[in-house]
Amino acid sequence: MPLSVVHYPHPTLRHTSRPLKRVDAELRRMAQEMIELMYEHEGIGLAANQVDLPYRMFVINPTGDPDQPEHEQVLINPVLSGGKGREAGREGCLSIPGIHAAVVRHQSIKVQAYDLDGNEINQEVDELHARLLQHETDHLDGVLFTDKLPPAVKDDVAGALQEFEIDFRSKQQSGEAPSDAAIAERIAELEKLRT
Ligand code: CO
Repeated sequence: MPLSVVHYPHPTLRHTSRPLKRVDAELRRMAQEMIELMYEHEGIGLAANQVDLPYRMFVINPTGDPDQPEHEQVLINPVLSGGKGREAGREGCLSIPGIHAAVVRHQSIKVQAYDLDGNEINQEVDELHARLLQHETDHLDGVLFTDKLPPAVKDDVAGALQEFEIDFRSKQQSGEAPSDAAIAERIAELEKLRT
C-alpha cells in the first residue's frame, strides 16, 4: 500500500510516537515516499503520523523545492532544546488543508537527531527552519498547530475543523476509512516491529 497523507481528525495524528529502535530498508523506502508526498502536496515538512505511521521521524525541505534536494533532511528521533525568542508566524498543515493561522514559536532552536544512516545530527537553526522543526516535532507528540492558537482564533477555525470531523466520520461509517479500532490495531503492530 502506498503511503498517503491523512487528514484531521485521523486518530494517528493524535498518537505520541515512541523512538525508533531500528532503521531497515522498508523504513528508508517509507522516508523516500514521504519526501515525494511532501513535494506532491507542496509542503515543506511531513511527519510520520501524517502518513499513518507511529514513528518518531519526519522529513523536511525548508525551501519546499524538489530541485534543491541538498536541503532535504530525514530526522529520526529528534529532540529539541534551547529554544530562544518568541515569534508569531503563519502556519498551515498538510493534514488540515485550507486552514492557516499565526502560531507563536521559538525563534531559534537546537535539534539533536539521527539520519537514515545513523549519523548524528546536531544543529541550531532559526526563522522558518526553526518553526518547521517545532511544527513537525509537535506532530510526533500528537499535537497540531491548531491546538496552539489563542481562543479567539480557535473559534475562527472551529467550523472548518468540524467539517473535517464530519467528513472523516462519514467515511468511517461508509467503510471508506478504517474504524478507530482498526487504526489502533495497525499502529500497535507497526510499533512492535520498530520501536
Ligand atoms: Co503539519
